[in-house]
This record gives sequence, structure tokens and C-alpha cells, in this order.
Amino acid sequence: MSGGVEERFQQLVSHLDYPMFIVTTSAGDRRAGCLVGFCTQCSIDPPRFVVFLSNKNFTFRLAQDAEALAVHVVPGDEIELARLFGEETGDETDKFERCEWSPGPLRVPLVERCPHRFVGRIADRFSTQGGDHVGFVLEPVEVHAGGGSFLPFSDAKELEPGHEA
Ligand SMILES: Cc1cc2nc3c(=O)[nH]c(=O)nc-3n(C[C@H](O)[C@H](O)[C@H](O)COP(=O)(O)O)c2cc1C
Repeated sequence: MSGGVEERFQQLVSHLDYPMFIVTTSAGDRRAGCLVGFCTQCSIDPPRFVVFLSNKNFTFRLAQDAEALAVHVVPGDEIELARLFGEETGDETDKFERCEWSPGPLRVPLVERCPHRFVGRIADRFSTQGGDHVGFVLEPVEVHAGGGSFLPFSDAKELEPGHEA
């Protein structure tokens, strides 16, 4: 993409707004999780949801060997939790020593302060044609639904990601 188009594209997407999620996983005896904005429902019947993880992230590397991911809606007043999962990296810090969590189905760690969440079995993985994120298609296997507020991208975009994308 030429410089001008790329810049205008960044400008366009930086003004969009959408909910933030904390996506967690485990492989072997290791746990991982990061703040995610790139994700959406992608099928109604059967229900499917896709999460895009940066290929630089510790969470991505664990997810390569994982069976499932947990997708947590970040409540609107949990900016500090978003900071922990978005600014720290599992390459250097055990985030799960710094928040309350419990073991969930398919061995995913569940973050206590995010009660609205689902656990999804990884049904497919796909590359984004040379892009820097990989899509993980999830089949929900356990869901805790509820209302409540969510932290929007517009409140989280000033955080400094633990890994460059
Ligand atoms: C506003 C915001 C949105 C982000 N969205 C994503 C995303 O969609 N996918 C992703 O893999 N990382 C995303 N990140 C970056 C990771 O959360 C961040 O680099 C984290 O420190 C990685 O942790 P890890 O190395 O332990 O996996 C986002 C960060 C911020 C601040």
C-alpha cells in the first residue's frame, strides 16, 4: 500500500469504536492472555466467533498449541485490567499472578473480574495473506452471558501494547 493510502486507512480505523476483550488460553502448564480488539462473531448457525492474534504475541504462540480460547468482555470500569493484559507481555510477566482467575473448561484460565465471557474450541486457524495477525475461529462450548457495560476501543487506544503488532 502506498504511504498516503496507509495513513488514511489508519486515520479511518482509529476513529471506529468497538468493545475490547481479554483472550486467554493455555498449553501444557503455561497460561497466556492479551487484550484484543480485532474480533467478531462470524457465523450465526452454527455460532462461530473469530479472534485475530498478532503473530508477535506470547498469547499467539501458546494458542498455536492450544485446544481452546476464552473470550472475556472487559467491563467498562476495568481499564487497569486492560492495562495489565494489553501493556504487559507473557514473555516477561506472569499476568495471572497479578489478577484473580480460575481454571475453566478445556483448561482455559477464566479472569474473575470479567464475568461475561465464553470458552470456544479452536475450530480453525487462518493466515491473513501476509498480514501480521492470524485468525482463530471459535466454536462456543460454555457461555456466561449478561448485560453490563464494556470497555470501548476509544478508552483503550492510549494503552501502549506490550508487543508491537
Ligand atoms: C487497544 C489495544 C488493542 C489491541 N488489540 C489486539 C488484537 O486485536 N490482537 C492482538 O493480538 N493484540 C492486540 N493488542 C496487543 C496486545 O494486547 C499486547 O501486545 C499484549 O501486551 C500482548 O501480550 P502477550 O505477549 O502476553 O500475548 C491490543 C492492544 C491494545 C492496547
